[in-house]
Amino acid sequence: MSEVRRIAVFTSGGDAPGMNAAVRAVVRTASYHDLHIYGIYGGYDGMINGKIERLEKKDVGNIMHRGGTILKTARSEEFRTKEGRKKAFENLQDLQIDACVCIGGNGTYTGADIFAQEYPIKMIGIPGTIDNDIFGTDYTIGFDTAVNTAIEAVDRIRDTADSHNRLFFIEVMGRHAGFIALNTGIASGAGSIFLPEKKESLNEFMEWLKKSSRRKKLFNLIIVAEGNTEGGAQSIADKVKNEVPEMDTKVTIIGHLQRGGSPSGLDRVLASRLGYGAVNAIMDGKSRVAIGSINNALSYTSFKDAIFKTKDLEDDTVEMARILAM
Ligand code: F6P
Repeated sequence: MSEVRRIAVFTSGGDAPGMNAAVRAVVRTASYHDLHIYGIYGGYDGMINGKIERLEKKDVGNIMHRGGTILKTARSEEFRTKEGRKKAFENLQDLQIDACVCIGGNGTYTGADIFAQEYPIKMIGIPGTIDNDIFGTDYTIGFDTAVNTAIEAVDRIRDTADSHNRLFFIEVMGRHAGFIALNTGIASGAGSIFLPEKKESLNEFMEWLKKSSRRKKLFNLIIVAEGNTEGGAQSIADKVKNEVPEMDTKVTIIGHLQRGGSPSGLDRVLASRLGYGAVNAIMDGKSRVAIGSINNALSYTSFKDAIFKTKDLEDDTVEMARILAM
C-alpha cells in the first residue's frame, strides 16, 4: 500500500490538446483509490503563488473534448530559482501534498527533477507537448491533433496553390524537432520538407525545384519546421525568390492554430492511459520518472534520460518522404 495520501496535478509549458483528458484521468484514478487530489493552477507559477485547489471527480466532467488546459499553464522563470522552489514546497507542505503529476515537456521535467531532489516530494511526468520531442514515449499528448490540424490547413492551401500555380512555403511548429513537419509533409503529399534535424541545403532544394518545373509541375507545397537551420518559411521563401524572381511564392505560418482545438481520439486515449498510469506509478512508489507509451505498452523513463536523451526522427521515414515526393 502506498504511503502517498495527497497528490497534486498541474500542466506546464506550451499547452497541448489532450492535456484535459490527462487531468481527468489523474483526478478520477486518484479518487478511485481514495487519494486526495489537488489542481495547481498556472503550472509552477501557481505552485509558488499557492493557487492550489481541491479537485473532485465532478470537477473534471465535460472536459475530455476541450483543447487547452483547464488548469492553465505557464513557463515559469521564478521556479528556476531556489527561492521560488522553496516557496512552492512550503505551499505543498501546507496542504500535506506528497506527490505531483506534472504534464508538459522537457522544461517541465527539468523543473520536476530538480524539485524532487531538493525536497521530499515524489514527481511523475506525463509527456504533453505537440512537438513529440520527448524521449521515452512513441507519442506525446497533443501531437496527433496538431498534425491533423496542420494537414487540414495544408489541404486548404493546396486548393489555392493549385489554382494559381504558386509555390507555397508553409511553416509548422517545432523549435527543435521535425516530427510535426515530417508527418504533416508525408500526409499532405508535400514536395519537400525542411526539418531542424536534417541540414537540407538550399542548393539541393533549388536543384529539386528546377527538376520539378522541368516536369511541368506547376505548383508546390513545401513544409518548413520553424526551427529549421535555413530559417523559417519566410526566410527560405525570400532566398528562393532572390534566386528565381519569376516564381510566384507565398508563405503561410500556421502558428498557434496547431496548439488549439478539440483533441483527436488518439490523443484522448493516450492521455487517459498516461494519466491513469501516472497515479498507479505514484502508488507503486515511483518518483523522478516520466511515463510514456512504447509499442502500445506503458513505459517508465527516468527524468534524466527523458530530459537528456534525444528522440530521433527515423531515417527510413525521412527517406520515404523524399522518395514519395518525387
Ligand atoms: O513547445 C511547443 C511549442 O508549440 C513549440 O513548437 C513552439 O516553438 C513553442 O511551443 C511556442 O511557444 P509559445 O506559445 O510560448 O510561444
